[in-house]
Amino acid sequence: MNSPDAASATPAEHARTATRAPDPPGPEGAFHFGSLAEIRDNPMDFYVRISQKYGGIVRFFYGKKATYLVSEPDLIKELLIKHRERYVKNERYKELQRLIGEGLLLSEGEVWQRQRTSSMPAFRRERIHAQLPVIAQLVDERLDKWQAMVDSGEPFDTEPHFSEISQSLICDFILGTENRDLTEPILEVLRRLMTYWPTPPRTILGGYKLPSPKTVRELKGALADLDDCFYEAIRRARASNQEDGALGVLLQHEHESQGRYEDQELRDQLVTLYMAGFETSASVATWLFYRLSLQPQIRDRVYAEVASVLDGSPPDAETLPLLDLTKRSIQETMRLYPPAYNFSRIAVQDDVLGGYHIPKGAMVIVAPWATHRLTAYWPDPEGFDPDRFLPERNAKRPGMAYIPFGAGHRVCIGAGLATVQLTVTVARFCQRYRLDLEPAHHVRHVPGTVMRPENGMVMRVLSI
Ligand code: HEM
Repeated sequence: MNSPDAASATPAEHARTATRAPDPPGPEGAFHFGSLAEIRDNPMDFYVRISQKYGGIVRFFYGKKATYLVSEPDLIKELLIKHRERYVKNERYKELQRLIGEGLLLSEGEVWQRQRTSSMPAFRRERIHAQLPVIAQLVDERLDKWQAMVDSGEPFDTEPHFSEISQSLICDFILGTENRDLTEPILEVLRRLMTYWPTPPRTILGGYKLPSPKTVRELKGALADLDDCFYEAIRRARASNQEDGALGVLLQHEHESQGRYEDQELRDQLVTLYMAGFETSASVATWLFYRLSLQPQIRDRVYAEVASVLDGSPPDAETLPLLDLTKRSIQETMRLYPPAYNFSRIAVQDDVLGGYHIPKGAMVIVAPWATHRLTAYWPDPEGFDPDRFLPERNAKRPGMAYIPFGAGHRVCIGAGLATVQLTVTVARFCQRYRLDLEPAHHVRHVPGTVMRPENGMVMRVLSI
């Protein structure tokens, strides 16, 4: 199939294409629909297939629109670092903007720079390490709530419960301890939002259904309640000159720079951090315990490490770095199930990537899911092997072969925080519970806002 752009090109455009770099290789797909059917069936399996068949940069057709997948580490570096000025974040994320507003995840240019600079101090290593006791305490409180379900002896879907742990950690990190009473109301609103938030269609004919009036009403109501919670936190923080949490850090920055933030801007910043932070970490914990239950010999090693390093105590700044295998197991989980399984950019000008032409306006996709399965860097890619992340094996791979947190100037601001929160969560779990997949439960990954198990993750949880 020809590119639709080429089909409608003017003579001047034809003259230009005669001298420009070639188009990348890739599947032609079906007339009019391109590769839509395969993408909608399961985009990640499609990306894995085409990256292995056609190479590090592939052109395919999303309907009639030429779209590009970049999976080779060197080309990812070119896209996200060397040519960063030629791309912006994907316009398609604007859907998400209705929820999170103009926050760090979606902003561009000067607004982005200011937001990144003002949030950065909240994510400093020393600040995160100072919160270790609070993180452990919050995880413990949530684990206490698991006990009744564990005592019942019945298997249950662990996914929403991991999500609650992440949410309570993120809430505390963002709004500060002083606003802890808002955690439960926010969790409740989020549950409602997730129930009614539109999900992408999964079949070629399944266009986005118009939401029913009830759905629109529920969504509006939940968004208004979410706003109430965050505006209440902002009001309190201003009144008490709060220093705690990302909210306190932003207010500090406001004092230092002597420029007052609008409440709306603060709200957008905080909701963005919240939304970017909770589902991502929760999904890693869910998939990690699933994989450990499938490989008891690795699980035994992780449990033994936690027991010997911590001797029953929660991790602190000294013991955290000693949980080496635990950390590598988390890394391996993020290789196999990267929560941000793909992200994308839009070219703001014509570009040449890896010797291939990328036209202005094209969408360029980076799929950690596919890059993390390139057999050149990851032999036996579906196997779960934390030892891939031993230093000597890391040294043999290009850095961009592993990009769960993205790369370049838009790299995840919460990477350090997420790693610490996850390590503490996993360690506290290992000190208390063993999780076994319920044998009758079939696990299949489906892409949503993060990569999720289609029917949840039903596990039998035993006290140790
Ligand atoms: C395992 C957990 C996480 C994963 C895998 C993850 C992944 C990512 C990725 C891949 C990006 C880059 C997207 C792109 O380039 O288009 C990103 C950006 C971002 N993440 Fe995370 N994230 C995680 C946790 C968090 C947490 C805990 C927070 C904050 C509390 C956070 C806040 C953000 C923000 C604000 C950005 C945008 C940064 C910018 O554009 O300057 N993330 N994340």
